[in-house]
Parts: sequence; C-alpha cells; structure tokens
Amino acid sequence: MSSVLRSVVTGVGGYLPDEVVTNDDLAKFVETTDAWIVERTGIHQRRRAAPDQAVSDLATAAANAALAAAGRTAADIDLIIVATTTPDLTFPATAAIVQRKLGAPQGIAFDIQAVCSGFVYALSIADGFLARGHAKRALVIGAETMTRLMDWTDRGTCVLFGDGAGAVVLEAMPGEGAVTDRGLLGFALRCDGTKQDLLYVDGGPSTTGTVGHLRMQGNQVFRHAVINICEAVEAAAAEAGTPLSTVDWFIPHQANRRILEGVARRLGIDESRVVSTVGEHANTSAASIPLAWSQAVQDGRIKPGQLLLLEAMGGGLTWGACVIRL
Ligand code: UT7
Repeated sequence: MSSVLRSVVTGVGGYLPDEVVTNDDLAKFVETTDAWIVERTGIHQRRRAAPDQAVSDLATAAANAALAAAGRTAADIDLIIVATTTPDLTFPATAAIVQRKLGAPQGIAFDIQAVCSGFVYALSIADGFLARGHAKRALVIGAETMTRLMDWTDRGTCVLFGDGAGAVVLEAMPGEGAVTDRGLLGFALRCDGTKQDLLYVDGGPSTTGTVGHLRMQGNQVFRHAVINICEAVEAAAAEAGTPLSTVDWFIPHQANRRILEGVARRLGIDESRVVSTVGEHANTSAASIPLAWSQAVQDGRIKPGQLLLLEAMGGGLTWGACVIRL
C-alpha cells in the first residue's frame, strides 16, 4: 500500500429558490399536461430563481450550507470551482464572484462548462489540485438558473428544467491507496463533440452575441444516455477497484426518472439504492447531483463510510462518473 493524498468530502449542502412551478402552472401557457410530464419524465415540479437572484447567489447559499456541514468557514477554502452553464456574466467567472460573496481568501477560482456533467467534471478536476498539493480545501459547486435558457413556447424542453445549487467541501487527507480509503477513488470523463446538435444553446458571445435558448432532440439524447453512462460507470468503478455491488448509494444526474431507472437496471443496482429527486427538482443540470446528495444526507439515508456512485450526461455530449467513499 502506498501513501496518497485523497480528496475527502467533509460537507455537502444545497439551495433551492423559493418559487415552486408545478406542471399545471406550465400547462396554462404551453400545450402539455401534468399526466404527460409525470409519465414521460417523473417530474412533478421545479423551482425558479427570483428575478433578482443570480446564479452566484444560489451557489453562495449552497456553499455556505456545505461549509457549515463541514464545520469550516470560507477562510479555510483555497480552491473554488463552479460548474455552471448559466453564469452571472460572460466574465468574470461565477467562481470569482462566489469567492467575493463568501469572503474567501485569494486562492484558485474558476468555472467549468460541461453542462449537466459539470459537477462530475469539477470534482475530478479539484482532485488533481488536492492530490498535487496545490490546494488543501476546495468548494466544488454545481449551480444553475436553467429556467433562463428556456424557450417557453417549446414544450419539448421547457417542462424539463429547474433552478438550484449544490456544493461539497473537499479536503486533502492522506490515504493508503486502498479501496477502503475515504475520498474520490475513481472517475471517468467522456465527450463526443460530434453529437453537439442533439443538445445545445443557440446563442453565445462569439456567435450571435445573445444568450440563446436550449435546444434538444430529447429522444436521441435519451438513447445515448443509457448506453454511454453505463460504460463510464464501469470505468470509474474499475479505477476505484471495487465492483458495483459494493455501492451503497447511486446518485445519478436527475434528468428523467426513466433514464435513472434504465441505467440502474442495466448496472444491476437495486432501485432502493437510487437517490431520486427529479420529481421535485426537475433537471437542474450541474446542480442536480449535489442537490440530490445533500437531500439524502439531510434525511439520514447517506452515512459516513458509505460508497457513492455519481454519474451524469449532458450537452457536448459530455458524460462521466465518480466513485467516492465518505
Ligand atoms: O440533462 C441533459 C440530458 N437530457 C436528457 O437526458 C433528456 C433526455 N430525454 C428525455 O428525457 C425525453 O426524451 C423527453 C422527456 C424529452 C421526451 O420524452 P420521449 O418519450 O422521448 O418523447 P418524444 O420526444 O419522442 O415525443 C413524443 C411525443 C411527441 O409528439 P408526436 O410527435 O409523437 O405527436 C412530442 O411532440 O410527445 C410530444 N411532447 C409532448 N407532449 C405533451 C413532447 N413534449 C411534450 C410535452 N407535453 N411537454
């Protein structure tokens, strides 16, 4: 056994804006029904940020919750990574704004853009900084105001997304290099840029000069999701050196209940081990995994020492998975 530096999760927190938007609320202005949305997606409601709330506000609230759970303060943090598709501004990075709002010291702060896979990408990136000693304690945040990217006349997309933020505190701690270590034990990240047209936003600073709206060929994305995610999960578990049967909790990206269930079935993971919040939160992109995680910690399901499997897939197409022991 060799001695290694592990990235250990010491706290998790989430934040949801106050406004609840139900399926019936949407059916008032777009041709849809509660029954269709529930049957095809499992979504019952989503949250929407107030007009004066920026994504950095959601991110800061989630970060403060994670810091409190970890017994840390902003003064302890020397790395902030925000995974977001809906930054406050084109620049500076939302992470720099969050650093200021938290009152954190002048460490490293930047955003990453991998859409719904952003949180899994960000965790893996943070692990590199911690393992090489470039940072000691990180905040990894997934935060989104996806409702601001919606075309509210497109029923195929506008019913699917919501706003929210989740965060974890990651701390560098020595480990044995064994599967019994606490921390991030394995990950796999993927991207297939040839599938861009299946899920994208039709605007941006260097093309249209506008923010744009989300466009998706939902059934095509659905088809790729189940197949791709399973390969990445197997690769992450292989790097961690543990079979999927040892996973205590499966925390997938919350896009569609049918995808969650399909992936779990293919991986042989019993549905009693799947954390599902898509019904209440809808798809909050990079925020969905840490939001679901914080909910399952708060309600007492997730406990210290347990093994977690995270996975996500989104625009790019990007996808990936992480295996973490608490
Ligand atoms: O987080 C990033 C990754 N994103 C995802 O993972 C999303 C993946 N995709 C999905 O979740 C599903 O594909 C959707 C929920 C988006 C759609 O479900 P589907 O079973 O694949 O339906 P579909 O797109 O094949 O559409 C079936 C029908 C269509 O009508 P026609 O052409 O058969 O007459 C749609 O126009 O359902 C219609 N439809 C709706 N009907 C009522 C689409 N959206 C709605 C709606 N209400 N909101």
